Amino acid sequence: MTETKNQSVWKNFIHLIRQIRLPILLIGIAFLLNFGKAEIELLIPEKIADLTGFEFTGTGSAAVKTAVSICIMIFVLAAVEFVGVMAATYITYIAKARINRDFQAVAARKVFYLTTEEAEARDPKEFISRITTDTGFVSDFLIDLLVMEIPRLYFLVSTLIKVSRMGNGMLLLGFVLVVPVIVLGSFWSGHVTYKSQTRLQNAIARLTARLAEKVEHAEIIKAYNRTEDEIADGEIFIDEMRAAQKKTTLATAFNQLVANVLFVVPTLIIMTAGALQLIAGDISTPQFVAYYGLGATYQKYIAEHLTLWVLAKKAQGATRRISGILMLKEDRGGERQTAGSGDLTFENVSFSIGGKKILSDVSFTVKNGSKFAIVGGSGAGKSTILNLLEQFYRPEQGRITLGGVDIRDFEIGSYRSLFSYLPQNAPGFDGTVRDFLCYGSGTPHSDEELKELLREVDMTESVEAMGGLDFEVGPGASKLSGGQRQRLAVARMLLTGAGTVLADEATSALDFEGSRRIASLIDKYAAGKTRIIVAHDLSTVQDADMILVLNKGRVDGMGTHAELKETCPAYRRLLTAGEEETA
Ligand SMILES: Nc1ncnc2c1ncn2[C@@H]1O[C@H](COP(=O)(O)OP(=O)(O)OP(=O)(O)O)[C@@H](O)[C@H]1O
Ligand SMILES: [Mg+2]
Repeated sequence: MTETKNQSVWKNFIHLIRQIRLPILLIGIAFLLNFGKAEIELLIPEKIADLTGFEFTGTGSAAVKTAVSICIMIFVLAAVEFVGVMAATYITYIAKARINRDFQAVAARKVFYLTTEEAEARDPKEFISRITTDTGFVSDFLIDLLVMEIPRLYFLVSTLIKVSRMGNGMLLLGFVLVVPVIVLGSFWSGHVTYKSQTRLQNAIARLTARLAEKVEHAEIIKAYNRTEDEIADGEIFIDEMRAAQKKTTLATAFNQLVANVLFVVPTLIIMTAGALQLIAGDISTPQFVAYYGLGATYQKYIAEHLTLWVLAKKAQGATRRISGILMLKEDRGGERQTAGSGDLTFENVSFSIGGKKILSDVSFTVKNGSKFAIVGGSGAGKSTILNLLEQFYRPEQGRITLGGVDIRDFEIGSYRSLFSYLPQNAPGFDGTVRDFLCYGSGTPHSDEELKELLREVDMTESVEAMGGLDFEVGPGASKLSGGQRQRLAVARMLLTGAGTVLADEATSALDFEGSRRIASLIDKYAAGKTRIIVAHDLSTVQDADMILVLNKGRVDGMGTHAELKETCPAYRRLLTAGEEETA
């Protein structure tokens, strides 16, 4: 997974925050509540100190009455603090959940807009854990920073001012000495946390990616009797995660130890400084009590500040990883709205993936409203041509134009809406048959209309046997047969009704008869529209206005069926192979 190494992590963090809408009101309320809490915590030690300054002369005396009223005040303050803390915790939780939701939405949105090249350059399944867990670390840190840190600093600074007002250098020194101890400790545990957490997050990402891939294709694993091997291979990832977890557990234990040391050592420092001054008679008992009371909370706040540092370290790695995704190129295209129809032209297009040449110097023109076929052996580059037309990829050299305009100049959404695209293998998503059919069509369709379409693709009986349009097709439309999926995909493509049809092996899963029926159905529905048809069954495209013969990414011939039969040996070979297949 790419991580942005050179950019400052803080710049990335700010950039990340600017992409979301902060719940300002909730944050404001929680902030004020925490501020109030700090204020009360500053007050209580002084009130307790006041209690120690009385000379009690008997029950009912003025001193006792004052003492009781001070006790009541302390009780009320503590109760208010308790309720305030509960409210603050709840509101902070809601604010954090909102922030996290926004981060997840931003990252998920980005993943969907990535160019295919960017997505393919890494394992897209690793994006999952970036979105599900890394975002949480960033939210944890951000909310602590926004809601808690300033009240905390306010308490710390106010305490130092209060202690310095006691006019005793030794007391102040005690408080100041505490700081380097805690800062050093927190730096150290932050570093340990960062390292172990980064390792764990990477291990989680790899394990998630692997499970997502292998579980999805469990049948292949079973068919090849590879179950035990896959389990053994998978355990490497599980072990990797276990090792990473061991490190994070050690880091947590280490942090606990540091936290304990950070409690004991500062307590000793503060106690010693106070006690020495008390014994020397340089401060009074009430002063000592106030000093010590403030000291206990002072330490607690500094320890919480340490937590912020640990959170920052976790967020640092997570920010890097999320920003690594956010920095990738998006698939938005240009500004221009498409003018609609026009001739589609490939001008000397070459294209490679990962250094491997896939298309070399490919040129052709698809006349507006014509039927254009692309034929060629497996791996010749037929699907790649459709992928370039859909702008999933961009040419490395040369250009593709529509009506004379480079397709890159068009706004991508308006450009893609020109096409009814039928991808190879007719993939589908979880949902009903109705959802499958209407995916992307944009307008509602009546049951009658859908049933008419099912009749056209010879699916009436099959869908009725499934229980109708509300039948759930399962994840990846896995409850449909390959042929059923292909027929429904053709129906879906026809329903889209866009001006240009891009059909990649629309009938490859169908038998001879079925293939021809569906091919002529596409012709009937799309008559007068531009049709770019990739076909291995050459009989379905013999009537095409133009046939492009591809061979290993190069154009081997172009012309009508009659012309190619005369002039193109590669086309004749394909014809012969097709005849043998159907014989
Ligand atoms: N994402 C990818 N990464 C790397 N190479 C790829 C990728 N997609 C396709 N290729 C390679 O590009 C070449 C052309 O693939 P393409 O899918 O366009 O072939 P095709 O003509 O559609 O073949 P088929 O008839 O088998 O569908 C193949 O050699 C394939 O290995
Ligand atoms: Mg293909």
